[in-house]
Amino acid sequence: MTVVTPSSAGPAMRVRGLEKSYGKLDVLRGVDFDVARGSIFALLGSNGAGKTTTVRILATLLKADAGTAVVHGFDVATQAAKVRESISLTGQFAAVDEVLSGRENLVLVARLRHLDDPGAIADGLLRRFSLTEAGARRVSTYSGGMRRRLDIAMSLIGNPPVIFLDEPTAGLDPEARIEVWQAVEELAGHGTTVLLTTQYLEEAEQMADRIAILHQGRIIVDGTLAELKRLFPPATVEYVEKQPSLEEIFLAITGGSDKRDTTGTKS
Ligand SMILES: Nc1ncnc2c1ncn2[C@@H]1O[C@H](COP(=O)(O)OP(=O)(O)OP(=O)(O)O)[C@@H](O)[C@H]1O
Ligand SMILES: [Mg+2]
Repeated sequence: MTVVTPSSAGPAMRVRGLEKSYGKLDVLRGVDFDVARGSIFALLGSNGAGKTTTVRILATLLKADAGTAVVHGFDVATQAAKVRESISLTGQFAAVDEVLSGRENLVLVARLRHLDDPGAIADGLLRRFSLTEAGARRVSTYSGGMRRRLDIAMSLIGNPPVIFLDEPTAGLDPEARIEVWQAVEELAGHGTTVLLTTQYLEEAEQMADRIAILHQGRIIVDGTLAELKRLFPPATVEYVEKQPSLEEIFLAITGGSDKRDTTGTKS
C-alpha cells in the first residue's frame, strides 16, 4: 500500500467547529477536539449524541455543514482521497464474510489492497489477535469476540496510521470486551492512532489516553482520565454495602478464564 506522508506535522486529528444537522435536528453544534499521534482517544456519549456522525465526517463518508477536520494532515473536505488512504473504519457491525474462514477473509482484503504476500500478512494478524487456531474455520462458527477481533485485524491490513472504531465492543460479553480492549491497546503500542466511540465510561477508562464527552452537540469535557476525575467533587466516606456488579461476579466465577482461541500466548 502507498505510504501516506502527512502534509504537515501536528496532531493525528484536529477538529474545529464541526456542525451537522439532519433537517431540523442539530446533531453537532460546534465540535472541537485534537487527537495526538499514536494515542487512543475515546469519544463518549449516549445514544444519539452524534458519535457515529462525527466518525463518518472524519472518515469522509459524510459532509459537515460547517467547521473543519484535518486527519493525518489532510483536510476531510478538500483532500478526501488522501484521508481515505490514511484511515480505516470499523463500524458497529462486523463486516466479515461468514462463509469464508478467518484467514480467507484476511487474505481477501490483503489481495484487494494489492499487498505482497497476503498469506504472510494474514498469518501475522491471526497471531497478533490470538486467532491462529481458529483461522482455518468458517467465521460463522466464531464467537462475537472472535469476530470483533477479526474485524479489527482486517482494518489493520495495509497499516493505516489512523483507525476509527465505532463501538468496538457493542453486544459483547465482559470477557470478549476485555479481549477487544487488549487488541486495541496493542494497536496504539504499534504507533497507530485510534479514535473509538463508546457509551461506557468504564470502557473509555480502560483503553483511552484521552476522553471526550459529546453531549447536546458539543464536547463538554475533554481530558485525561485523571483530569476528568478531578472535575468531580472529592469523595466523601459513606457506609454502604457495595453490591458487586454483574461484570465483577462474572469475572470472579470464571476467574477471568481464558476462552480465547489461542496458541497459548496470553498470560
Ligand atoms: N441519516 C440520518 N438522517 C436523519 N437523522 C439521522 C441520520 N443519521 C443520524 N441521525 C440522527 O442523528 C442523531 C445522532 O446520530 P448518531 O448515529 O451520530 O448517534 P450516536 O452517538 O452514534 O448514537 P449511538 O450510540 O446510538 O450509536 C440521532 O438522533 C440520529 O437519529
Ligand atoms: Mg453510533
